This record gives sequence, structure tokens and C-alpha cells, in this order.
Amino acid sequence: MEFPFDVDALLPERITVLDQHLRPPARRPGTTTPARVDLQQQIMTIIDELGKASAKAQHLPAPITSASRMQSNRHVIYVLKDTSARPAGKGAIIGFLKVGYKKLFVLDDREAHNEVEPLCILDFYIHESLQRHGHGRELFQYMLQKERVEPHQLAIDRPSPKLLKFLNKHYNLETTVPQVNNFVIFEGFFAHQHPPARKLPPKRAEGDIKPYSSSDRECKRGRMDGVGLGTQKG
Ligand code: ACO
Repeated sequence: MEFPFDVDALLPERITVLDQHLRPPARRPGTTTPARVDLQQQIMTIIDELGKASAKAQHLPAPITSASRMQSNRHVIYVLKDTSARPAGKGAIIGFLKVGYKKLFVLDDREAHNEVEPLCILDFYIHESLQRHGHGRELFQYMLQKERVEPHQLAIDRPSPKLLKFLNKHYNLETTVPQVNNFVIFEGFFAHQHPPARKLPPKRAEGDIKPYSSSDRECKRGRMDGVGLGTQKG
């Protein structure tokens, strides 16, 4: 994915991590430095375009990732740059992974409600021309190390069939724990929660529980795929 400005100079590293401040990374010595506001505008353009491409790839009616959403949430986005040599190079972006902590009520394998705040996979996209080349795995691995989480500790916001295959192939995540919200968790989730998952009082009636799963995808119906397409635990 190319842009009308110098992506290589803007994002010096192969993977750039951005939070709600969308701060342009420090530039390489010797590179001319445009005004900071222009650099931030370029970063916002990249995020908006990536968000649009991801929504299109997932058949979502509108993007769930944009610069303005980034600024109003405590999400973190990992952006992967193409570092292969290009003759007239302004650089290009391969894809991104967006994560964030969310308070969720999730069911365990005995169907008890648990209040948890796991790191969630919120949006993930690799450019169509470069899928199945290992770039998704590279980005995901980097995120796991940086966030210090294990794959089975994650909650996934309405994973696409491709993402379910990806998680199965690279991380052996297959057996899901059935949920009533959009989020998918896998076997091992409760064994590895830090801090431990908090159980709600057993007496509380189901109607009282507000599963504020705040999925960005809830109002973005229209994607063809479903939840829990992996093998579900009976
Ligand atoms: N069909 C089936 N499985 C696929 C496909 C596909 N078209 N593409 C990737 N995969 C899975 C497979 O397990 C594949 O292994 P295989 O080729 O041996 O079958 C594996 O991913 C490949 O791993 P990587 O090359 O590291 O993954 P990639 O760079 O393709 O990134 C990603 C994976 C992000 C899911 C990418 O395919 C993509 O952008 N898909 C479209 C958008 C999407 O579905 N994003 C997830 C939305 S859900 C969410 O974000 C919470």
C-alpha cells in the first residue's frame, strides 16, 4: 500500500507501534524533518487508509480502525512496513494489527460468568497481494512479545475465518469456549489470566449482568463470517 509521501522516512523501523497520541517516531539522522503536524497528518492518513482496506477485506460496512478512533481509545496499533528494496522508493505499508484491553464478561466452560480485562485482538489486516507470506505472523509475534502475552490469553473480536485458520496454524488455538458476545476465547484462557479472572457472585441473575463487551463490530453487521467457527467445546 503506497502513499504520496515518504513512508520510509516517516516510519524508520519495519514495525512501528502507535498509541492514542499518534506520535511520529524519531526520524533517522540526516533526514529532513517536516513540521511535526504534517508528520502526524501523514500517520493519520496511513491509519485511515489501512482501516478502510481492512473493512473492505472483511466486508464490514464501515471501518472500525481510523485515526480519530485511535485518538479517542486506548488502543495500540502495530504497523508493518515493506522493507524490500524499491527503485523509486517512497516505501509502502504491508498491514497492521490493532489491540486493546477491554472489560468483558466471558463464560467459562461451566457457563459461569467471569469479569475479565484481557488484551483483545480488534483489527488485523495484511494487504491482499501479500497475504500468506508470513507477514501476519511476523506482526503477531512482535505484538505478543511487546505486550508480554501468550496467544491463549487473548480475546478476539469476531475473528474472520482467515484469522481463525491463522490462529490455529501458528498457535494451535482451536477449541473455543462458547460465548454470548462477539468475542472468541480459546481453551486455556482461564488458566492463564493475569490477574486471575474474577468470578461474579453465583446468585446474580443472568438478566442483571451487563455484558459490556463493547465490540466495535457490534454495530458493523454485514460481514459474512461468524463467531466461534473453531471447534467448540461441548
Ligand atoms: N484462506 C485461509 N487461510 C488463510 C488465508 C486465506 N486466504 N490467508 C491466511 N490464512 C491463514 C492460514 O492459516 C495460512 O496458512 P496456510 O497458507 O498454510 O494455509 C496462514 O494464515 C498464513 O499465515 P501468515 O502468512 O502469517 O498470515 P497473513 O500474512 O496472510 O495474515 C491475516 C493473516 C491478517 C488474517 C490476513 O490473511 C488478512 O489480512 N486477511 C483479511 C482480513 C482479515 O480477515 N482480518 C482478520 C479480521 S478479524 C479481527 O481482526 C479480530
